[in-house]
Amino acid sequence: MARIDELAQIGAIENTDGCARLALTDEDKAGRDLVVTWMRDLGMEITIDGIGNVTAVWAGPDTDTSLDPVMTGSHIDTVRTGGRYDGNLGVLAGLEVVETIAEAGLSTRRPLAVGFFSDEEGSRFPPDMLGSLVYVGGMSLEEGLDTVGIDGAVLGEELERIGYRGGAPCPAAAPHAFVELHIEQGPVLEAEGVTIGAVESVQGISWTEITVKGQSNHAGTTPMNLRRDPGYVAARIATYVRELALELGGRQVATVGQIKLHPNLVNVVAANATLTVDLRNTDEMTLQQAEKQLARFCDELAESEQVTITSRSLARFEPVVFDPRVVDRVACTAEALGHSVKRMPSGAGHDAQMLARVCPTAMIFTPSWMGLSHNPFEFTEPGDIAAGTNVLLHVLRGLADEES
Ligand code: HGY
Ligand code: MN
Ligand code: MN
Repeated sequence: MARIDELAQIGAIENTDGCARLALTDEDKAGRDLVVTWMRDLGMEITIDGIGNVTAVWAGPDTDTSLDPVMTGSHIDTVRTGGRYDGNLGVLAGLEVVETIAEAGLSTRRPLAVGFFSDEEGSRFPPDMLGSLVYVGGMSLEEGLDTVGIDGAVLGEELERIGYRGGAPCPAAAPHAFVELHIEQGPVLEAEGVTIGAVESVQGISWTEITVKGQSNHAGTTPMNLRRDPGYVAARIATYVRELALELGGRQVATVGQIKLHPNLVNVVAANATLTVDLRNTDEMTLQQAEKQLARFCDELAESEQVTITSRSLARFEPVVFDPRVVDRVACTAEALGHSVKRMPSGAGHDAQMLARVCPTAMIFTPSWMGLSHNPFEFTEPGDIAAGTNVLLHVLRGLADEES
């Protein structure tokens, strides 16, 4: 808890418990430096790869260092209105596990690795989970480094600037297994009074940037029937996206999180609009249908409003199912520790969904107060954090004792 509080001071958002450490900013650098210091204080061996992912490895006196490590971790970059638990909990709980085992004078058969991945949020440099995607070979290092952010910055240059462009190769060697502790970021565990989530899957994610080009004109003199108004078109798309989610039902969610108008002035019909659409669903076919219906709506709207609409994908990940054996281990461990457990999907994207491509992987959830996240008032009870960290401790020890 002390580490969570101290890390949250970096990029702290005034009058809240939240913090803002967008990927590869000075705040992110300061957070990285602090966590790396804690890793070093625990005697861990630090590796930084070409996209800035940081992995720290611990071995006890009887650890067989020739064996692949069991890994945990998450991210320490945040969204602009972030809370102090999203990502940070998983990294700092990993350090707590290592410290607890080391202090007890115990050894694990396999080394333990704790990592934080670059740019998990993807809100500055899309897609999200970019660092862990490169870590597992899902994106080339070059493509990752060339990514241009929403502020025009180039990822590789920012990484260089903050001193975290490491030399370790991407993709990394696959760990023996990966387990990530994370807050649920949704309302389910709290609503059902359950302490631990045994996460079975992560839903599919589709991020699209849509650009609307019309004709800027005078707000007072231009008759309504002569307008080619991107401000209006962007608003129509935003309302359509809501209607689409409600029409498809089930677990379909849809969000327009960003709308930018140019020149964004009270008395000018906008020249152009740029907006983002975040569509998610646990079912891949329905997610594809949502994408098709949105594209069709945009084509029809471009026609009727005499504007041009273009789009580009910012992120697209299919749903991921975690390894049932590891999920079972999470659920059984939580029950053995006397906690209530619920098997559930994740609504948010996580680094674990990338590690699942290369090794047996699962996640542990702890409840989120009011289901709030990506909000500076994000909160999780210390008792739930202790429960989640203890489940992580015993799951990692069990996996670290596995022969193969
Ligand atoms: O967008 C997400 O689900 C995650 O917070 N990056
Ligand atoms: Mn997260
Ligand atoms: Mn997040």
